[in-house]
Amino acid sequence: MEKFVISGGRKLSGVVNISGAKNAAVAILPATVLAGGVCVMENIPEISDVVSILDILSNMGAKIRYLRQSVVEIDTTHLHSPQVPYELARKMRASCYFLGSLLGRYHRAQVAMPGGCNFGVRPIDQHIKGLEMLGANVRLEHGIVEASATGLKGTSIYLDVVSVGATVNILLASVLAEGTTVIENAAKEPHIVDLANFLNTMGADVRGAGTDVIKVYGVKSLHGCTYSIIPDQIEAGTFMAATAAAGGRVTLKNVIPKHLECITAKLTEMGVGITEYDDSILVERNGPLNHVNIKTMPHPGFPTDMQPQMAVLLSLAEGTSIITESVWDNRFRYVEELKRMGAQIQVDGKIAVVEGVGKLLAAPVKATDLRAGAAMIIAGLVAHGTTAIEDIVYIERGYEFVDQKFQMLGADVRRVAVEPKQGSELANAV
Ligand code: EPU
Repeated sequence: MEKFVISGGRKLSGVVNISGAKNAAVAILPATVLAGGVCVMENIPEISDVVSILDILSNMGAKIRYLRQSVVEIDTTHLHSPQVPYELARKMRASCYFLGSLLGRYHRAQVAMPGGCNFGVRPIDQHIKGLEMLGANVRLEHGIVEASATGLKGTSIYLDVVSVGATVNILLASVLAEGTTVIENAAKEPHIVDLANFLNTMGADVRGAGTDVIKVYGVKSLHGCTYSIIPDQIEAGTFMAATAAAGGRVTLKNVIPKHLECITAKLTEMGVGITEYDDSILVERNGPLNHVNIKTMPHPGFPTDMQPQMAVLLSLAEGTSIITESVWDNRFRYVEELKRMGAQIQVDGKIAVVEGVGKLLAAPVKATDLRAGAAMIIAGLVAHGTTAIEDIVYIERGYEFVDQKFQMLGADVRRVAVEPKQGSELANAV
């Protein structure tokens, strides 16, 4: 086991390359099952969630080899079992995407549900509703979801809540279904559009992704292809927030500025300088930070996955800011850690009131989930003294070479070995 040790107080400067998007990769890699052929996937981030998905694919018989760094070839021609066992499913939430892709190709799927949960109840009722409306029989027994169908038929599906996961699963199950599927109140996140583009590159006919009505015209078969995954919106946002917090001047390369608009708008309101180029963005902060209010919303609203990082920044701003979390029930667990560093944040249900305190002080803290861990890194970068962050396995699920990337920007971030804790059980649900 390792921890990050950060000596805070250094400004950031230089250039950082943003990796491929985690939440696109964990939806697109399970979709390769539908190809029944060879896919070459580019811009794949080296993070533990991707390793987990590749393990699942390999366990079902896919042939996988890295052609070079961040480029992986996946051959799903011959798969021997449409199953995801618990030992593999428990490692990550996105394992449930194999329900849609296996059902789409084989008309049957058996996927163990991931255990643990980090920020409130994480139901899959909308996934199941969608698959059932396509004609599948879905049963949940002994922690295993079993889905089967004699044939899948397109239909109109209205999602009761805007759900990224349900939109992904329905897309995966419907591309090879007979007839037309309409997903209404669909999620509009950039990774949904990326998945639709990947499916279309494999020969599917998906239209309207990025709007709240997606139409899927079923096709008879799909084929392998070469595809490059979009840059990670949240990794980029995290480096933007880190630069704004620590001060300095950083260029982020390999980004899609359009995907960052919701974050750019808030940072600009706070007084951070942002200049957009075609596929890069310059972030500069020298002066004081203004307080702002933030309400998380499905895309194109402010992303919940940037909420903890922004809480650090708002702790450094002048005045009082209010954060309203409207996606997850319990995404303020990190606040207790941040308070240990001197933050003054009052949480009442889904609302946090953040008093700007101007500075933070180093303390031993832990990552309570992936984005909470990113927030602790930012806090460590600005804090006076040396901060140690434990449970960094969470951070490694979604941030590629994060310590090295911050080192390249001039930060003093070190990875240090720690003795494993007795009885420590890290929940694994992102
Ligand atoms: N919901 C339901 N029923 C469902 C599905 C969702 O009620 O069947 C509710 C959830 O309880 C939640 C809301 O709908 O209140 C949104 O959930 P969604 O399904 O959109 O979330 P998800 O697919 O489980 C993905 C990301 C999360 C991100 C959310 C929201 C992946 C692998 N995960 O989760 O990312 O927070 O969308 O944008 O794509 C992260 O990267 O740190 C992370 C947690």
